[in-house]
Amino acid sequence: MLFNNTQQEQITGAETPFYYYDLNLLNETLDQVTAAADKRGFHVHYALKANFNDRLLDLIQSRGLGADCVSGAEVQKSIDKGFSPDKITFAGVGKSDKEIILALEHGIFAFNVESIQEMEVINELARQQNVIAKVSLRINPNVDAHTHHYITTGLDENKFGVPTSELETAASVIRNAANVSLIGLHFHVGSQITDMNVFKSLCVKVNEWKNWFEERGTQIKVLNVGGGLGIDYQHPDENSIPDFEAYFDIFDKFLERGAHQEVHFELGRAIVAQCGSLVSRVLYTKSGLKKNFLILDAGMTELMRPALYQAYHKIEKVGVSINDAIKNYDVVGPICESSDCFGKEVPLPESKRGDLIAIRSAGAYGEVMSSHYNLREEIRFVYSDEI
Ligand code: LLP
Repeated sequence: MLFNNTQQEQITGAETPFYYYDLNLLNETLDQVTAAADKRGFHVHYALKANFNDRLLDLIQSRGLGADCVSGAEVQKSIDKGFSPDKITFAGVGKSDKEIILALEHGIFAFNVESIQEMEVINELARQQNVIAKVSLRINPNVDAHTHHYITTGLDENKFGVPTSELETAASVIRNAANVSLIGLHFHVGSQITDMNVFKSLCVKVNEWKNWFEERGTQIKVLNVGGGLGIDYQHPDENSIPDFEAYFDIFDKFLERGAHQEVHFELGRAIVAQCGSLVSRVLYTKSGLKKNFLILDAGMTELMRPALYQAYHKIEKVGVSINDAIKNYDVVGPICESSDCFGKEVPLPESKRGDLIAIRSAGAYGEVMSSHYNLREEIRFVYSDEI
């Protein structure tokens, strides 16, 4: 259950919808991820794209994680939040000149470079500032992440990274680029990966390409293996913290690293997904001939994942009484789109106008992907230490 009785009483009258963030759970998750990483000398950058909510970032920053950014604004945000520039990476296939200049001015740890042309632009902008840009080359390793095709990024036909067929050219461009220093190789094959064999296959590819560079006389200091560790959307209470030990163990066992080599990770979802829930109120109930609908005051504008990826999120009624009969509902939002649906035929205790419904595991790619479509209001949040 998401809320204890006292909390339930307090939120009964709260204005909905809102994101609820359990800071204790985030703290425990951070305990586990940092313990498992530190033990192996691994470096973890938190992927801001998953959630850049201020209080979450404060907590994450205070635990010493680095930041993984995909826009100039995320670089600026992480600096404003106190992340040390030497722990900030900047990735993305379409970095603008303005964003590159900003990151150069802050002297970030590394750019994850996604194309040869981008490498040349960074070299030129660094030359104009008279600095050396540290870069990791993102290699597209052609590993199938066995996840939703919208969140697979490591296959040959994806737009991400440099295909291996172009590495020879990339290596020679880097050799001739006076204002760029290649410090590492970067890989990321997808998100919500629950099959550990995918990460094993990734290790094999990383070893292969690291050797390829070393055979050509280029020393690689940083092996950045990206993020992607999945969470258990089906069982948010039983599996509230991902198995970081098992995940890091794979890289410990299968990545061949020399004493001088650092291993870096960019985890987003695994850190923040389970600490967030979207809490919403039933506006209307509707019974058709074959279907029952619960119409909520939250929709795809607050949590887009179900509409965009047909993603599953566990839906719960808040404050269940033992007398409630179970009914199957299509749980939908108020937006004028048929895809504005959180779940079909969801078994739930019978619900009525005014009841609260929680949509779980929404801490990652929830609030940050919310929109103003239909001129919806700015989303609110409630933190566990406020109730
Ligand atoms: N590094 C890179 C280069 C990435 O592209 C991503 C995510 C991450 C790290 C963090 O991945 P994570 O550890 O969170 O899986 N909006 C989608 C997910 C998009 C992921 C994009 N890249 C969703 O709601 O499922």
